[in-house]
Amino acid sequence: MTTVAVLPGDGIGPAVIAETVKVLEVAAPCIEFVTIPVGLASLHTYGEALTSEHLELCASCDAILFGAVGDNGDRCRPSDSLGKLRHVLDLYANLRPITFYSQPLCRVKDISSFDILMVRELSSGIYFGEQEKTRESASDVMKYTRAEIERVARVAFSHAECRRKRVTSVDKANVLTCSQLWRETVSTLASRYSIDLSHELVDAFSMRALLFPQEFDVVLTANLFGDILSDTLSVLSGSIGLLPSASYNVEKGYALFEPVHGSAPELESHLPNPLGAILSGAMMLEYLGMNNENIAIKQAVHRVIEKGFHTFDMYGEPEKEVTTQKMGDLMVAELNLAE
Ligand code: IPM
Ligand code: MN
Repeated sequence: MTTVAVLPGDGIGPAVIAETVKVLEVAAPCIEFVTIPVGLASLHTYGEALTSEHLELCASCDAILFGAVGDNGDRCRPSDSLGKLRHVLDLYANLRPITFYSQPLCRVKDISSFDILMVRELSSGIYFGEQEKTRESASDVMKYTRAEIERVARVAFSHAECRRKRVTSVDKANVLTCSQLWRETVSTLASRYSIDLSHELVDAFSMRALLFPQEFDVVLTANLFGDILSDTLSVLSGSIGLLPSASYNVEKGYALFEPVHGSAPELESHLPNPLGAILSGAMMLEYLGMNNENIAIKQAVHRVIEKGFHTFDMYGEPEKEVTTQKMGDLMVAELNLAE
């Protein structure tokens, strides 16, 4: 029996996760789901955003499916739950595929194809460095060790070897010392892989990736840059709501799957795009050894989009705009058709 910890969270998290579970129950009926409160839902009952018992329960499952959590005050920030999971389980490699669906869904004109895999370092860097705040000043330390850079670079290189063999490492080495260590470390390690490595500064890269996305294959970058760049690159797919992600520590056997978007608490629950969460579920199936089921879900997403269906955040004809729940139903119908 495969057991998955499901953490819907708050904001739009529960709505997109409900559709994901609905789709997974059709695509992979053998999975058993264990629902665990996180964020506001946990704060209300347990007084904290994620209890250590629940964290342990997550760690004991085969995989974790996460919705979203918002910034809900001192004891309930994303760092108190999602950040805790990423740090305690040491989920250092965050994979964020940016997929081309169609023009005009792509928000940049004249782009006819691309296929980018972003590999973002996720358990270190400025997100987890020392913090200090007084009334008059505040600081966040960005620190990387050579070992931390090497292990995430290995993930990027191995993926590139199975793709177009190109890795672009994105940093800010003209200013930051930890980017200089990043660049040296990545360069040294690259000689052991059959890949082409290039380096780009994050400011120039953000522009070039939007203009010439077809030139990039695997993009390797640090925690903060990866956070910013995933929202930037989402305009190439068509919406942040379409992007899935997988966070791994393969050595320790932990994996968490979550859409790239945030909790968008202001959005009514029939509006959010569930496809980013559903595609995260597909990445989870691949990790769990159900690759046919993963492919079936990805193909169903392409077919639903080809038929013109879209949620409010995606470009499309007004009469083909559907709710979150209807998008889940369309996905289930596509999967049943394909059987
Ligand atoms: C993401 C999110 C998180 C991040 C937030 C919710 C802390 O924006 O996964 O991209 O900044 O990493
Ligand atoms: Mn983000």
